[in-house]
Amino acid sequence: MKSERDRVYIFDTTLRDGEQAPGFSMNPTEKLRFAKQLERLGVDIIEAGFPIASEGDFESVRQIAGEITKSQVAGLCRTSLGDIDRAWDAIKGAAIPRIHTFISTSDIHLNHMLKMTRAQVLKEARAGVKHARSLTENVEFSAQDATRTDRKYLAEIVEAVIDEGAVTVNIPDTVGYAMPEEFGELIAYLFDTVGNIHKAVISVHTHDDLGVAVATSLAGLKAGARQVECAVNGIGERAGNASLEEVVMALETRRDILGLHTNIKTKHIYPTSRLLAEITGVEVQPNKAIVGANAFAHESGIHQDGLIKEKTTYEIMTPERVGVSETNIVLGKHSGRAAIRDRLKKMGFDLAKEEVDTVFKRFKELADIKKEMFDEDIEAIIAEDVFRRAEKYKLLYLSVVSGNAAIPTATVKMEIDGEVAQEAYFGVGPVDATFATIRKMTDTNHRLVKYQVHAVTEGTDAQGVVTVQLRHKERIVSGRGSDPDVLVATAKAYINALNRIESFQMRDDKK
Ligand code: KIV
Ligand code: ZN
Repeated sequence: MKSERDRVYIFDTTLRDGEQAPGFSMNPTEKLRFAKQLERLGVDIIEAGFPIASEGDFESVRQIAGEITKSQVAGLCRTSLGDIDRAWDAIKGAAIPRIHTFISTSDIHLNHMLKMTRAQVLKEARAGVKHARSLTENVEFSAQDATRTDRKYLAEIVEAVIDEGAVTVNIPDTVGYAMPEEFGELIAYLFDTVGNIHKAVISVHTHDDLGVAVATSLAGLKAGARQVECAVNGIGERAGNASLEEVVMALETRRDILGLHTNIKTKHIYPTSRLLAEITGVEVQPNKAIVGANAFAHESGIHQDGLIKEKTTYEIMTPERVGVSETNIVLGKHSGRAAIRDRLKKMGFDLAKEEVDTVFKRFKELADIKKEMFDEDIEAIIAEDVFRRAEKYKLLYLSVVSGNAAIPTATVKMEIDGEVAQEAYFGVGPVDATFATIRKMTDTNHRLVKYQVHAVTEGTDAQGVVTVQLRHKERIVSGRGSDPDVLVATAKAYINALNRIESFQMRDDKK
């Protein structure tokens, strides 16, 4: 029996704490697409962003608030009244808006960052929550750096904000410093000390600097917290946040000892993880729990033998439970639209009719030059032709001459704002020549932070997927491109990054 008392609320911060990490920037269209997937996954609260950060962030939170109907939509803000008003303006159109306001409470932050006394912070926290409560009943307060805060003072703050009407109080391990047991004790201490604690949901928010974020969050839940703030693929500041999929599957798989449950539809976990990787261009490490490529791969002969005899010998959860498709059916050039549509559905992609048409068209083109098509090929098509459509810049043609007896030269034909342009230039190698030509044509000069090529499937006819990361002001922007020709994939990835920079530029110009 699942009782409401044992229900854990999943607060997803991929679009806020996750997105602020280097290389994970998303534009508003990408954020909205991901928010809709989070809703499908069944998260209770989507933290859509930090509206005061920029006009673009504000707009993006407002857009998500306007489209999400089942999950709550939270906007983050400091405790200053202007910050709170800005967050409220962004989220007030949501079906269930939530103001999430925070201030640091540790002496380290007070002395070096805020230059405030404990009494001043307490007053500020009270005033912030009071103001937020005048706008909505759904107010969450976070005590930043709670795990390095004097316990008695933390308890005082928690009591005060609940007194002002906070319905959720979050205890973050902001710097990933706490050990799981110690964190569990801190939560238990708050339950023992704070007189009005039963009036609020206690939340945990842990970072992975010491690699124990999930364990720390679970310890907090065991001690009585009933909300966990986490991010898909564990992305987030520095080493990341507690990973949503790991927390949820630990709760599911070990319900026997944890006794807790969530409302997450676990079969959407893997598609959500893939969507994030495709949008951001940042791959999940292969050995990542739950969603890594090897998470359900059994290599050793003894293990394989055991699995054939009985799945539970080496499997504590089935791949199907988290949405990993049971078979990677091979499709070919004779596969029809219905087969592709069906495959897309099984892979967890909920695409509009015209998007399915786009995928089908590109699928046919690729299937003509490639013998077999796999799920990974379809994923690469979706990433490129549906999620990352060309905007300002579009590649029309690329030809590269290289070798150990030639000066590597690239000839590029592109559409720039609808006008066709062509140019040839050289470089120290074929990739450098391609980048140099595109840089010249687009009059851009962003520093290349990362260039990575991998094959999406086995075989020498596999599509190459290229990821590039370019530095744009304080951001690192990723671009991705795929093609059976890795140099074409390289040009597409570079152009994709430029298009994404363009969308950030437009956002920043509105500030
Ligand atoms: O890590 C942290 O303390 C945060 C807060 C803003 C909740 O992200
Ligand atoms: Zn955080």
